[in-house]
Amino acid sequence: MNVAVVGIGRIGLPLAVTIASRGHRVTGCDIDAAHVQRINLAKNPLPDEAGLGELLARVIADGTFRATTDTRGAVASAQVILFAVRVDIDPEGRADLSHLLAAAETVAGALQPGALCIFDTTLPVGTTRRVLVPRLEAAGRRLGHDLHVAFSPERLLMGRVIEDLTKYPKIVGGVDPRGGELAADFYRQTFGGEVILLSSAEAAELSKLAEGAYRDLNIALANELAMVADVHGLDIEEVIRAANSQPYSHIHVPGTGVGGHCIPVYPRFLMQGEGPSALSALGRAVNDAMPGYVVRRLAALLGGLEGRRVLVLGLTFRPNVAVTFHTNALDLKRELEALGAAVHGHDPLLSPEGIASLGFERAPEPLPRYDAAIVHSYHASYAGLEWGRLAPIIVDARNALDRSAVEAAGARYLGVGRPPTPWL
Ligand SMILES: NC(=O)c1ccc[n+]([C@@H]2O[C@H](COP(=O)([O-])OP(=O)(O)OC[C@H]3O[C@@H](n4cnc5c(N)ncnc54)[C@H](O)[C@@H]3O)[C@@H](O)[C@H]2O)c1
Repeated sequence: MNVAVVGIGRIGLPLAVTIASRGHRVTGCDIDAAHVQRINLAKNPLPDEAGLGELLARVIADGTFRATTDTRGAVASAQVILFAVRVDIDPEGRADLSHLLAAAETVAGALQPGALCIFDTTLPVGTTRRVLVPRLEAAGRRLGHDLHVAFSPERLLMGRVIEDLTKYPKIVGGVDPRGGELAADFYRQTFGGEVILLSSAEAAELSKLAEGAYRDLNIALANELAMVADVHGLDIEEVIRAANSQPYSHIHVPGTGVGGHCIPVYPRFLMQGEGPSALSALGRAVNDAMPGYVVRRLAALLGGLEGRRVLVLGLTFRPNVAVTFHTNALDLKRELEALGAAVHGHDPLLSPEGIASLGFERAPEPLPRYDAAIVHSYHASYAGLEWGRLAPIIVDARNALDRSAVEAAGARYLGVGRPPTPWL
């Protein structure tokens, strides 16, 4: 089958090369010409994506995959078109569909009769049917007759997209019933794993938002419990471990908010929808307040932050992946500076320009001694850091460090919902 993947970024590229490696001829379409050129030379733009470099080299060499900026040309010969263009939130907190709408409008005029369009990008409920299908039909095709459309969310973790593509069941919902069936067949045949065909695109859209909202709210609960633990001088880590020792409790790990362009974004899609969303809004509010909470705890411990030199380690939104969308490192910086601290940033995964573009002053190398260091994303390469030399107090903003190792190295430890080490 000829397949076009529109948007070959963090998700679309691994998706496209995986499909190419499984017997289809795939064209990856993107508006970024330099990106397309690099990919056609088999230069992997995502070195932190496991297995992508080898797979890309293979499918470019055997001719089953190529990239292009000519989306219309690729779509004209494709039976299946997948959309993996990103949707973010605008400054008012609403879904910004502009890129996806532009992609749908480009594709519409080139669709061959009977083409199947599958939207992979997470969307507010009803968007595929009410907003995207009319764009696709604008050039004359009719849904259910010579055009089929489905929604099928990606359930992937950046850094291990290729593995995750076949690991979890693929959820599919058709806008027209035939679209659902065709998409389910396509994924069954391509990935060979379980496919869950839901009764509509809307059900599939809501299922993806449900996953994200569940995690955001669960983390908000963990954060609220962590703050209660702080009031009583308890360690939330042992509390959650105890609570989760029966099968009905799955409390996540508390921390400095929630970053990335998935979990903090999807509850907002519910908040702009037609149904109730009080809990989604509450979860967002609790999690958004965490960077301020963590910084105030540090300030209380140090007797204020005015003039203190504070290092933030790991500026990406999560460890070991060079992605900074909605990273809470920025929130930490804002809160620290509001209390008068002088803040440096450090991240081995980012270039000096990448660090500067976040507004951080880059920490000199070798790292000097600071008044405090906050570990925001605990990259694997930080395991060998000499905590005691770095600062007298180490804030574990994601409860990811080994507390005893920090203390053994001669630094005080402060976690989220975890009492600080008494003065050493
Ligand atoms: N990143 C994740 O961890 C993750 C996980 C699960 C699901 N998703 C979903 O995948 C979507 C895509 O995310 P991403 O991280 O791959 O985004 P991305 O920004 O890395 O990639 C999007 C690509 O689309 C291209 N593009 C923009 N407009 C275009 C157009 N009109 N035509 C062709 N190409 C166009 C961009 O140049 C870019 O290369 C997200 O919105 C989300 O719904 C992401």
